[in-house]
Parts: sequence; structure tokens; C-alpha cells
Amino acid sequence: MADTLTITDNRTGKTYDLPIADGAIRAADLRQIKVAADDFGLMSYDPAFMNTASCRSAITYLDGDAGILRYRGYPIEQLAEQSTYLEVAYLLMHGELPNATQLAGWQHSVTTHTFVHEFLKRALEGYRYDAHPMGRLVAFLATLSTFYTDAKDIRDPDIRKQHAVRIIAKMPTIAAWAYRHSLGRPYVYPDNSLSYPGNFLAMMFQIAEPNYKPNPVLERALDVLFILHADHEQNCSTSAARGVGSAESDPYVSLAAASAALYGPLHGGANEAVLRMLRKIGNVKAIPAFIESVKKGEGKLMGFGHRVYKNYDPRAKVIKKLADDVFEVTGKNPLLEIALELEKIALSDDYFIKRKLYPNVDFYSGLIYQAMGFPMEMFPVLFAIPRASGWLSQWMEMLDDPEQKISRPRQIYTGSDARDYVPMSKR
Ligand code: CMC
Repeated sequence: MADTLTITDNRTGKTYDLPIADGAIRAADLRQIKVAADDFGLMSYDPAFMNTASCRSAITYLDGDAGILRYRGYPIEQLAEQSTYLEVAYLLMHGELPNATQLAGWQHSVTTHTFVHEFLKRALEGYRYDAHPMGRLVAFLATLSTFYTDAKDIRDPDIRKQHAVRIIAKMPTIAAWAYRHSLGRPYVYPDNSLSYPGNFLAMMFQIAEPNYKPNPVLERALDVLFILHADHEQNCSTSAARGVGSAESDPYVSLAAASAALYGPLHGGANEAVLRMLRKIGNVKAIPAFIESVKKGEGKLMGFGHRVYKNYDPRAKVIKKLADDVFEVTGKNPLLEIALELEKIALSDDYFIKRKLYPNVDFYSGLIYQAMGFPMEMFPVLFAIPRASGWLSQWMEMLDDPEQKISRPRQIYTGSDARDYVPMSKR
């Protein structure tokens, strides 16, 4: 059986054979289908990219129906159980797990790039104390682009790698300092003797302790959350990073664009939205009325549903288990009871069953972050910190892909035909 698709154009009666590779036809092959020689040719129309593969990628495998997520072939559950975020970041960027020497070298590189130039501190201080930390992150990444001007040399693999390390290393510092600035607390400088998540916790929460040591359970929990958020193939923010990067913009502004996409409540901002929703519901008795309002279309059940997962999000499963470890240290988050009951009711309700709406990664993560002492506004930032390694891996893959060019979708024009300009006196 040939791997082709035969299309008959009923406008002309002509038949075309299009090759099928990896379960896809090439949209550009449709262009030969014309009604006249000067016809532009057939396009496919796919608002929101519901069924269009924009690239070939060897980084993350996702099967939404089966609830499977793998980085470079490794199941997310195994990585969450046995790996560390920095090792996963190496895996995503290099394609293979590091050996002991490679890992030590990688950790050393990241650890020795965590400091931020003193001059850049002034940029952080230009914001009002209550500026949203995601807005600051977007702007600060763009500011780094003005500082590291050699990053524009995106075709040089060494420069590219150097800036990727810088970004991964500095994300926690920038995030923690934005938080400290909002509270008027002095900045805590990176401590290179701590792990990646441990250093972040110290920069966030250290007050006057001379040798701040993060709680090991919370340190590990944060590392696992970072692993779970590191990549998720062609989502909205990754597509933004690839789209902007395809214009050969530098990695800082490409990631500023990705962070801007992640900021939205339908994407990385959902964990913050879940907490606001749980607070608004207030108590278990109010859940049925809330569910009814969602079913009437008056709002969404935040933390539920996914464009790709039509099954339980495998990350949500790991997070639900992780919550128990964290709550043992911090005490239970009082909103947990509402979340558990909400999940139970939603999963047995026809509206959600029919639409295959299951909890996603954001449903429980906010509860953990809150119990660990992070303010709600920091939740999307906690998503952005580890996703930086995914964005960078995808950005590099895009640059090395000979099939990729500047990203430029087509449109179907629906506006007026040509018409003459009307002078003001005649309008
Ligand atoms: N609550 C209630 N109904 C929903 C929800 C929800 N959370 N999500 C989808 N639906 C309904 C939707 O109204 C539609 O119903 P109908 O067929 O009657 O019109 C149906 O389910 C299909 O939904 P859709 O809007 O076509 O799905 P989508 O693929 O465009 O949207 C989504 C995916 C994640 C944006 C959406 O499910 C949503 O808004 N969820 C809440 C926000 C959220 O939790 N986002 C985090 C996503 S995971 C982390 C990340 O990747 O950033």
C-alpha cells in the first residue's frame, strides 16, 4: 500500500497524489491544487494550530490520549523519581543523559553563572513594589539582551551555549530578586554551595540566618516540580520562542516572548488562577453551585482541561503524590480539601467526562507552592524558571533544522475589496 493521499478536486475533476510521511502531508504540497494557472493554490486553514505540525522535534514525546510524557525518550515519572532538574536540563539540551564528568561540568557552569551584574540590579529597581513578577521577568529577559549583545551571534554554537547556560543560571536569581524588591527586603546573593533549587529557596526566603539551609523535603519537591515543568513540546510559549527565534532574534528576547505567552491565565498563569478560584469557592459546600456555573459557561474550572491531554495529565499525578510530602513538612493547605472534592465531583460529572477534562499540571502545583511560602504572583515564575531549559532546547533545535525558515503563517483575507480613499469632507 502506497503512503500517499489521493485528492480529487471537484472544481476541476483533477486528481493529485500527495506523499504521506510520519502521518502527515506537507501543507505546501496542496499548493499544486489550482483551478487556474494563476491561482495561488490550495491552503489549509487551521486557526489555533489545532492540527498542524510546525516542526519535527526529537525533544519531547507526548501522547495526550494515553497520558504519556517523555523527555528524549525517558518517562517523566522516572525522571521525577530519579533525576534532578539540572540533569534534565542537560538531557533536554544535549539529547543524552550526562555521565558523571559531564554532569559535574554542567553543574559547575550553571552554578558559576548565577550572579547578575550589579548594573542590572537598577533595572529591577525601576519597578513599583507591586509590579507583577511575570511582567518583570519578561522585561528583564529583554534587558539582558541589551546587556549581552554578542548573544545576537546565534549561529556560533559556543556563544549560543554560553548564553543558554547564563539564562538557566540567572532565572532563579532574577525571580528571587524581583520578589525581594517587592517586599523591600535586601537581595540575597547566590550561594554556590547549594543545589539549584536550594539556592533559589535561599535567595527567596533567607532573612538573617548566616548559613541558610533549605528544608531537604521542600528542596527536593521544588526540584521535582522543576523537572515536571521543563518542557512540553509545541505549546503556546514554546511556539512563541520558536516563532520569534526564527527571525534570528537573540535568545534573551526569544525567551522574553515565550515568558509573555506563559504569563497568560490559559497557559502558565493557570496555577495562580486555580488558587484564586479555590479561594473564591471558599468551602466544600459551595462546590456544586460553582460546578453548575462552569457548566452554564459562566467561567472555567481552572487547572482542568488541556489542548493535548484527553486523559489525566501524568504531571498532575506526580504532583498529587508530591503534595503529601510537602504538606507533612508545612502542614496541610486549607484549600486542599476544596481541590480534592472539586476534582472528585468534576471527574464524575457528565459535562467533564464527555469533554475529557482532567486535572492538568496546574491544578495541584499552586497548593504546593503556597504551602512552601511562595506568594501567588510567583507561581507562573516558578513555571518559567525550569521551562527556560525547554525553550532553549527547542530554540536550538529550530536553528539547526535546515527545513526551518522565518515563521510566517498565511491568512484568508476577509476584508474589503480595493476601494478609493475617501477625503474627510466626504465621510
Ligand atoms: N472548564 C470548563 N470547561 C472547559 C474547560 C475548563 N477548564 N476546558 C475546556 N472546557 C470545555 C470548553 O468550553 C469546550 O466546551 P464545548 O465543546 O461545549 O464548547 C470543550 O471543553 C473543549 O475545550 P476547548 O476550549 O476547545 O479546549 P482547548 O484545547 O482550546 O483549551 C485549555 C485548552 C487548557 C486552554 C482549556 O482547557 C482551559 O482553558 N483550561 C483552563 C485553564 C488551564 O488550566 N490552563 C492550563 C493548561 S496546562 C499548563 C500549560 O500547558 O500551560
